[in-house]
Amino acid sequence: MTSFYRPTIAEIHLDAIRANISQIRKMVGPTRKIMPIVKSNAYGHGAIPVARAIESQVEALGVAFIYEGVELRRGGIRCPILVMGGSLGDDLPLALEHELTLAVRDWQQAALISQAARQQAGREDRMVKVHIEVDTGMGRLGIPFRQAADEIARIRELANIEVEGVFSHLATSERRQDNFTLLQLERFRTILAELERRNIHIPIKHMANSGAILQYPESWFDMVRPGLLIYGLYPAPHLAGVIPLRFPLTVKTRIMQIHQFEAGDSISYGRTFICQEPRRIAAIPVGYADGFSRVCSNRAEVKVRGRKAQVVGTICMDMCMIDVTDIPQVQVGDEVILLGDQEEGGASVERLAELMGTISYEVLCSFGRRARRVYLDRGEVGEALRDEKDFGENRGTVFSPAR
Ligand SMILES: Cc1ncc(COP(=O)(O)O)c(C=O)c1O
Repeated sequence: MTSFYRPTIAEIHLDAIRANISQIRKMVGPTRKIMPIVKSNAYGHGAIPVARAIESQVEALGVAFIYEGVELRRGGIRCPILVMGGSLGDDLPLALEHELTLAVRDWQQAALISQAARQQAGREDRMVKVHIEVDTGMGRLGIPFRQAADEIARIRELANIEVEGVFSHLATSERRQDNFTLLQLERFRTILAELERRNIHIPIKHMANSGAILQYPESWFDMVRPGLLIYGLYPAPHLAGVIPLRFPLTVKTRIMQIHQFEAGDSISYGRTFICQEPRRIAAIPVGYADGFSRVCSNRAEVKVRGRKAQVVGTICMDMCMIDVTDIPQVQVGDEVILLGDQEEGGASVERLAELMGTISYEVLCSFGRRARRVYLDRGEVGEALRDEKDFGENRGTVFSPAR
């Protein structure tokens, strides 16, 4: 494989993602629907290849924006796709054209969808499936829980709208025996009971993200919405190991240059690292533009030839330096593991998140942005998905598994 584009590679084991979904299936039972969340480019793993690999295993896929759903459709994904983040209206015709299911956050938005469906050329009988979001405490999108039952009833009266689902999102489901999660659940259940009382039956009720899947079975309802779990990570340390997960991602690069420095020599911008004694320092082509945040300067560790190497000096935009003094026979072109599972080494996502003062979700999204993604399925590299000429940020050679 050519390294013409970028030597930094994100290797993604699609079979690991599938194995993680199978574990979720085991936990929530065979009849409950699973809608993995592949928004934000599948948390940095590449939406189309991930969706292709898991489509036949799940009942639906969840994205945040209409363009993400359109991208999946253009990539050949045929299963139901729920756009959870909604729309301001102008992209609705595109959503309808691509048969996307839309989350609805209030009556006005539902009315816009109803109107767009009527206006769609030649499709006066067109029904658009929607899932209504209720805000039970997330404080983000959705109908406030106090008025939810009334507003849902009004939305159901709109023409060309089929209310297929009703859902809510949990704010603190990663916490153990959490009162606020229980309160959100109670509010949701109250709304569902009120809808039933009014003879309003909505087929798909859903609420559970990764934290809730692992520890609040009462939140599973008809469908669960795992994001982080399918990418092999647990939403909180106390949840590690509740189900066995495989970490599908390894981010690696290669050494560009090695220099011998003397005591007193300094490394990188701001001279934040001064050699106290002679050191061998290697430059690697990965920087903060690749997701390797500047706050990891002088703190993160990577792995070379099976040994740990410390990042020294300030991380630059496209480069950083590592101390390879104690690594025998190290040479230019050697593989450097930045991020990986325990076997591969490098830093774990959790460790980087800790260094960066953030959560693993953000680390995944940042690393996925620029690296050249290479997909493996049962150890095999798949066929080329994109034209080699199609390069630029977030492009490069992308492989998908054989279908
Ligand atoms: C509405 C909704 N459901 C489910 C998820 C998946 O969450 P998690 O990655 O914690 O499983 C998200 C992600 O943020 C979301 O916004």
